[in-house]
Amino acid sequence: MGSFETQARGLLGTIRTGHVAARALAVADSRVFVRALFLASAVRLGVLGGLRHGRSFAELVAVTRCTRPERLRAWLSVGVELHELDVRSDRYVVRGRRARALADGDPLLQAHYRSMLDYQSGAYDELASLLRADPSTGRVDLDEHAAVIAEVSLAAAPFVTPYLDRIVDELRPGRALDVGCGTGVYVRAMLDADPLLTVDGIDLAAGVIDDARERLQTAGLGNRANLVAGDIRSWEPDPARRFDLVTLLNDVYYFPEPERAALYERLGGFLTDDGELVVVTMTRAGSIASAHLHFMLACEAGAASLPERGEVPADLRRAGYVVVEDEALVPTEPFVAVRARRAAPR
Ligand SMILES: C[S@@+](CC[C@H](N)C(=O)[O-])C[C@H]1O[C@@H](n2cnc3c(N)ncnc32)[C@H](O)[C@@H]1O
Repeated sequence: MGSFETQARGLLGTIRTGHVAARALAVADSRVFVRALFLASAVRLGVLGGLRHGRSFAELVAVTRCTRPERLRAWLSVGVELHELDVRSDRYVVRGRRARALADGDPLLQAHYRSMLDYQSGAYDELASLLRADPSTGRVDLDEHAAVIAEVSLAAAPFVTPYLDRIVDELRPGRALDVGCGTGVYVRAMLDADPLLTVDGIDLAAGVIDDARERLQTAGLGNRANLVAGDIRSWEPDPARRFDLVTLLNDVYYFPEPERAALYERLGGFLTDDGELVVVTMTRAGSIASAHLHFMLACEAGAASLPERGEVPADLRRAGYVVVEDEALVPTEPFVAVRARRAAPR
């Protein structure tokens, strides 16, 4: 039997086993999966930057401190087959669009791929034990991967930044507070929006705050930014200090649902009489991204969860606020911004 005939019989055999369309889709899925695994592992290994202008195999062995060259060679072959890498005369160079952007150091893309291995797959991997765990236990991704989690949030920046520009333009705040400020991207956006504004930022993760502070210093904005590491639930600002704007951007879901109204009330105590609180968050259901995020949050220790649509304004009203605006920020996602001021100023 010739090889064509063997192949044809193999294909026919595959078709006869049934679920042909599903199997074809599964093959396509596994290709996507392998690409994501390859790129995520390349970001973790830290080799792509060096492949912008090409590296020999011997150089790659040296920079990865590799003692198993046959494994490195096999891994590189995956990249070549995916067309993410190219190899000529034993020199490897980035080729694919994603690999080239990662090699250029795109921080959002790096966090996007790194997060897949660092924590996104974990909740699915451990599903059975997470479903049977006692109520006090769960994953601790925020403790272990604070920097990557803060960087993944940068995906929302193209939508949140112009929104904040508008708020700053309308309110003309003298002092603002960004709660859970992460990378400091929105501290910077607010400082850029108004040269007279001073912004305080607080975040649980000390390392994330150190990085954000350094970035703001480098941008020449350090003298108008005051970043501290701490928990907003116990943090006490200088009693004489009040904020014209307090922002809670992409982090309300880390607070247990029954405690959110109390948090808003507490933040209200930091506001000036005309001050406003702005809450920006993904809400539950309506997209794959929001369902996936809500699932990962539900698997955390504690009681993290995405709010339902309508929950943020309802909690704000319970906490004594008047909702000024409630709008969708992203056309394709249930991602909302709610703006409120205290119903009865002090
Ligand atoms: C998903 S990140 C968002 C960061 C930033 N707001 C953004 O949108 O890019 C959530 C941040 O909230 C911080 N956070 C969570 N709970 C907090 C708390 N109780 N007090 C202060 N920061 C908190 C986390 O450390 C994390 O950096």
